Amino acid sequence: MSTPDPLQRFDPTAPPSRVRIKSDALPQTGAAGANVHGHRFAAPEVVFDAQEVSVFYGAKKALTAVNLGIRRGEITALIGPSGCGKTTFLRSLNRMNDSVASFRIEGQILYHGHDIYGGNVDQVEVRRRIGMVFQKPNPFPKSIYDNIAWAPRNLGLKQDLDERVEKALRGAALWDEVKDRLKDSALGLSGGQQQRLCIARAIAIEPDVLLLDEPASALDPIATGAIEDLMHSLKGRFTIVIVTHNMQQAARVADRTAFFSLESGTDAKSVGTLIEFDGTETIFSQPRDPRTRDYVTGRFG
Ligand SMILES: Nc1ncnc2c1ncn2[C@@H]1O[C@H](COP(=O)(O)OP(=O)(O)OP(=O)(O)O)[C@@H](O)[C@H]1O
Ligand SMILES: [Mg+2]
Repeated sequence: MSTPDPLQRFDPTAPPSRVRIKSDALPQTGAAGANVHGHRFAAPEVVFDAQEVSVFYGAKKALTAVNLGIRRGEITALIGPSGCGKTTFLRSLNRMNDSVASFRIEGQILYHGHDIYGGNVDQVEVRRRIGMVFQKPNPFPKSIYDNIAWAPRNLGLKQDLDERVEKALRGAALWDEVKDRLKDSALGLSGGQQQRLCIARAIAIEPDVLLLDEPASALDPIATGAIEDLMHSLKGRFTIVIVTHNMQQAARVADRTAFFSLESGTDAKSVGTLIEFDGTETIFSQPRDPRTRDYVTGRFG
């Protein structure tokens, strides 16, 4: 008897079992979204579909009723004032908040149609498919090579490891700078190089999605530019979700932008709320909501 395809036969009422999430490889750049006749598909594929997502830390509600679809192969930016729940939302996408004891989520986040918080989803698979890079570069205190090789080794991907390491470093636009010092400690790299190393580390296991939480906030303008160029080059190969405080950066890199804000809830406590989500151009030049306009034009606060 063959194993049922979890995508085809996903049954939310089924008893928990280890489900491996499936998705086809992204099309090659240039062919994205086109069928054999070269026509564009009408509906872009949605990687994440957040439905009425509310997040709590203990009694505190951090996010309320977020509905947001993240499209495959695109860069989606999350913007908004401090404390509006951008990081909370991002970390909810790969269950990174599970380690926070007080964390609780309501609503659903579907990843390729699977409820990512469903009991039958393999959490290791989720982390493998959905990579994350944090605000502060956090290389391991190991060599440059071993930083990149660590996750592939852990996953048993030991074949052609040198090629894999080189490909990841090239993908992160770092190869030329480090190819002669692969055995040196990663801690000796500059901040911008360390952040690109962390991106290389994330892409070494060829994830489906990259989640980036303010990846350039600690970097100077040149290193920031390198990270932005890198995002452009990774676009299409990966689906990218980036949190940024930098309006220009969102405008430069993102296809679509979500603006979150802190709004007064029914109990007069402020809660993170998705105000508007649209094409980046629209959010920055013709937002529908005055709160978005005030924020993107710098009139906020
Ligand atoms: N581990 C946690 N425990 C309790 N409360 C938390 C935790 N993490 C975040 N919060 C609270 O949830 C709310 C949203 O925080 P979050 O870090 O998601 O905001 P943010 O939009 O990323 O802010 P910033 O722009 O400052 O990074 C804040 O009120 C924050 O204090
Ligand atoms: Mg944050």
